[in-house]
Amino acid sequence: MDISRFSRAALAGAALLVAAAPANAESGRLLASQCAQCHGTNGAGPGFEQIAGKDLFNDLIEMKYRPIEGIMDRQASGYTDEQLRLISDYLSTQPGTGDD
Ligand code: HEC
Repeated sequence: MDISRFSRAALAGAALLVAAAPANAESGRLLASQCAQCHGTNGAGPGFEQIAGKDLFNDLIEMKYRPIEGIMDRQASGYTDEQLRLISDYLSTQPGTGDD
């Protein structure tokens, strides 16, 4: 493969990655909208524990695979691991109020 063809492929790949980022954020926002009824809009309360501005992925995986029969186990098991990743990536970018 000559260099210029390689560069073009690399650029195209980079462009795809850049284009994918907002799409992931949008998917995360939509998936996380379901959490709002108990944790407030974008997880920032008021409600149960504030979940904005935190990395929740490991917590959500724990809830899904080691359930203790709480509300959140049922919530977490309704999503694929990839969806939990999108949800937690999105919520981690949201400002919390610092109250909780
Ligand atoms: C029906 C209400 C309800 C919904 C909907 C809900 N949660 Fe929860 N969540 C709770 C309650 C109640 C707690 C605290 C008690 C518990 O853990 O069971 C909690 C706790 C949590 C915690 C633990 C926080 C901490 O600091 O310990 C996380 C993380 C969490 N929720 C994330 C989410 C996410 C992400 C969603 C959306 C996919 C969601 N929740 C949807 C009710 C809900």
